[in-house]
Amino acid sequence: MQIIVVKHQKQANELVGGMFARILQTHTHPVFGLATGGTPEGLYQWLRASDLDFRKAVAVNLDEYVGLPATDPHSYAYYMRQHLFAHKPFAHTFIPDGSAKDLLAAAAGYHQILKDHPRTIQLLGVGRNGHIGFNEPNSSFKSTTRVVALTPSTIAANARFFKSKDAVPTHALSMGISEIMAAEQIVLMAFGTNKATAVKNLVAGRVTPRWPASILQRHPHVVVVVDEAAAAQLPVVTLKHAIHQ
Ligand code: GLP
Repeated sequence: MQIIVVKHQKQANELVGGMFARILQTHTHPVFGLATGGTPEGLYQWLRASDLDFRKAVAVNLDEYVGLPATDPHSYAYYMRQHLFAHKPFAHTFIPDGSAKDLLAAAAGYHQILKDHPRTIQLLGVGRNGHIGFNEPNSSFKSTTRVVALTPSTIAANARFFKSKDAVPTHALSMGISEIMAAEQIVLMAFGTNKATAVKNLVAGRVTPRWPASILQRHPHVVVVVDEAAAAQLPVVTLKHAIHQ
């Protein structure tokens, strides 16, 4: 696991944007696993302003709220159109269908999509409780795409995007941990003090479903890009070996 500590989020966006650019240069039809939430907003802004061409690339998103159609401004489908897809067309984009009548079938269908589109890179954020995608604490490391119940802490954290806590969906359709781990490389971004405990556990804690992101220690190609606030609880020895920018 390579740890990069940046002074400013802008540097993280440039860095990950640069990784995306190299992938576009070296792969004819790359597959980008994409994430939502506050963390990648700056990266998407950087990509929108770039001259990168994604028309031969495929995007596969991590998750979607259950019950929200793609037209709902709170849905992740809407988020992706707004932040990236409307500005940078892809050959194809996939997001789990959280408004499907048959969610089991939607989950199975998404699992197949992931098999058919092995990801060149998977972008991740991390929840304060260590979730990746919407794989909450105690999710199985063998999990695949499924309906998950959101924890009260995740609902509280995401309430800032909604009118109130009560408006946050209670469930989501999320890529599973085994599918996240199947990506060729993974880049995780985390900013701010409220991610510091999750970052410590993901980088230097025991590998345990209690902290789902800790499984990333077992992946051969992971880059973790954090700002100084998110790196604040990392052990000194980890920081010594980290790249500081
Ligand atoms: C959200 C998403 C995750 C995201 C994480 C952190 O709920 N499901 O994909 O990485 O929680 O969100 P944020 O970047 O807004 O802090």
